[in-house]
Amino acid sequence: MEEKIITAENAQPEKRKKILSCIQPSGIPTLGNYLGALKNWKLLSDEFDSAFAVADLHAITVRQDPQKLRKQIMEVFALLLAIGLDPEKNIVFIQSQVPAHAQLAWILNCYTQFGEMARMTQFKDKSQSHADNINVGLFSYPVLMAADILLYQADLVPVGADQKQHLEIARDIANRFNGIYGKTFTIPDPYIGKQGARVMSLQDPTKKMSKSDPNPKSYVSVFDTPETIMKKIRSAVTDSEGGVYYGDGKDGVNNLMGIYSCCTNLSYEQIEREFAGKGYGDFKNAVGEAVVEELRPVRERYEMYMKDQAYLKEVAAKGAATASRVADRTLSKVMKKCGFVLP
Ligand code: TRP
Repeated sequence: MEEKIITAENAQPEKRKKILSCIQPSGIPTLGNYLGALKNWKLLSDEFDSAFAVADLHAITVRQDPQKLRKQIMEVFALLLAIGLDPEKNIVFIQSQVPAHAQLAWILNCYTQFGEMARMTQFKDKSQSHADNINVGLFSYPVLMAADILLYQADLVPVGADQKQHLEIARDIANRFNGIYGKTFTIPDPYIGKQGARVMSLQDPTKKMSKSDPNPKSYVSVFDTPETIMKKIRSAVTDSEGGVYYGDGKDGVNNLMGIYSCCTNLSYEQIEREFAGKGYGDFKNAVGEAVVEELRPVRERYEMYMKDQAYLKEVAAKGAATASRVADRTLSKVMKKCGFVLP
């Protein structure tokens, strides 16, 4: 290949990095999802060219009730706006409204090995928890996720630890395709947020906070009322020792300190100083109030958007149109390289 010489004339200004992430519409997210992921999305959206989607095609890999699914898709879409993503500046959309995702996923299926999918830990876990419905979609789920990412030529993908293996596979698929057909896809890197906020269950602080926990006292949902939030934080499990400081065997207190730190931007040392000589009662009240204030604007905006379903649908349709323009460019490139005849 001819070497390209960069001169003042052809030098391109440093391109803004592209970022993409998606969230499944499987129930109302928790404080853990918010502090660990969504809050960072908002910050990232100011810094990068970004696309965020409701991954509803992924949701049907486990059986869904259609009415409930429809409701949850719009709730999570409203939440994306409520956390402050600006649909004028970012691409905010619903995955199933952009056909290129399913199309590219099919093509990439044919460039993915059975063995690669079979060793995915999430597939192994889910085939145990959904033993009556181990469908092929559940199996090739990571390929659809690869399509989501690669269609937008994303440089960075914010994901939690449980999705890192899927991102690895997306990179492998992209590299393989590029190896066969020449550079087609950007190879995405995982993006690990600044605050590795990992929020634990309020009732068993050795477990991750989860919205599927049968005990609702174990998690704060992003739309819990202030009263509920205060009650749940006040009944969080701590220890019998009584001091507010970060330490071994103090999982409950450590977790509350993490939450408080995320909401207030105070360091652990500052928190320890603030509560020196005080008991857990005072500490929990302060944590509860900080969480209430953190989530208040999100809940208020969410309630406002949910009252206007026509507006939400219009924003989603515009987002899907913009997403399609970007995604179709990649899809056409891929189809040409594979040997399909474009209309
Ligand atoms: N699988 C992800 C999850 O369950 C959601 C997801 C779908 C995703 N497509 C994606 C995340 C693309 C990042 C990029 O959390």
